[in-house]
Amino acid sequence: MILVAGGTGRLGRLVVARLAARGLAVRVLTRTPAAHADLDALGVKLVRGDVRDAAVVLTAVRDADVVVSAVHGFAGPGHVSPASVDRDGNVNLIDAAATAGADVVLMSVVGAAADSPMELFRMKLAAERYLDASGVPATIVRSAAYLELWLEILERTAGRSGRPLVFGRGENPINFVSVADVGALVERVVLDKGARGRTLDLGGPENLTMNQLAAAVQSRAGRTATPRHAPQALLRLAAGTVGRVNPAVGRQLRSALVMDRAGVTVGGAGSARELYPDLPQTSLADLLERAPARRRGGAAPRVN
Ligand SMILES: NC(=O)c1ccc[n+]([C@@H]2O[C@H](COP(=O)([O-])OP(=O)(O)OC[C@H]3O[C@@H](n4cnc5c(N)ncnc54)[C@H](OP(=O)(O)O)[C@@H]3O)[C@@H](O)[C@H]2O)c1
Repeated sequence: MILVAGGTGRLGRLVVARLAARGLAVRVLTRTPAAHADLDALGVKLVRGDVRDAAVVLTAVRDADVVVSAVHGFAGPGHVSPASVDRDGNVNLIDAAATAGADVVLMSVVGAAADSPMELFRMKLAAERYLDASGVPATIVRSAAYLELWLEILERTAGRSGRPLVFGRGENPINFVSVADVGALVERVVLDKGARGRTLDLGGPENLTMNQLAAAVQSRAGRTATPRHAPQALLRLAAGTVGRVNPAVGRQLRSALVMDRAGVTVGGAGSARELYPDLPQTSLADLLERAPARRRGGAAPRVN
């Protein structure tokens, strides 16, 4: 049995669907099973639980062969935080996997580092280190930012004005990867015991600026208006004010600032593609071709 924590999320759903399609027994740990009843149709068992609750996690992981962690506490409901979910929640999952004798596949991020300006990246590294020290057979997947997520954010911010909002200047090259490609990799490493003991980076085929992404969103929607920009000074101000009241918004603003200042690229093709050269490599053009154009006044398309 494969336990997927975060199996209701953007990546997790793809992983769960792939594993279930192979006829494997999959259990998903979620705080809100009722909201994800559609997963029943895949034959997936949903168990209610929060990764911050060690006792619940222990029960959910019992008799698992592999535990996949696709959770994060960067944003989202339930007063989550990177410290409580990405570090401590993952510690609970790793401890429970050790007790059950299960392997772990941990989702992390390209750029996870102890001195990263982003709390999420520091907490991902803390989880990676805990996992390494635990002796649990494990594979760590460090992924670049999901292309589909950023296309959706830009589409959503276009709203009524028809002009996507770019945080900062939007001129830094950032490596984006399609979440579909990440899903294909996670499926592979769940099944491949030979990948244990490895940390695999996965980037996408292109480094793109936010301005390029915004232009793509406009072109797909048949709009010609230029994007709006939230200046860095405004982001800093909002991070220090709104961010104090709403920590998740503060984290988002600070991470937007980091991405706008430094950019994030991946060296080479990433070690995941060296290990599995046949992994899909979805480009921005591929995604735009597959995704339907936004209907006027309609919801932004979900492109994965
Ligand atoms: N998005 C990116 O650009 C990106 C880039 C690199 C790496 N990653 C990593 O990839 C993984 C998946 O990201 P995503 O963007 O697909 O996530 P997502 O769509 O935002 O979904 C988040 C998932 O985390 C679960 N979760 C959050 N807090 C939880 C808690 N306290 N207890 C139990 N479950 C909890 C949610 O489950 P319920 O709400 O159902 O409980 C949900 O399934 C994460 O590890 C993330 O750090 C993401």
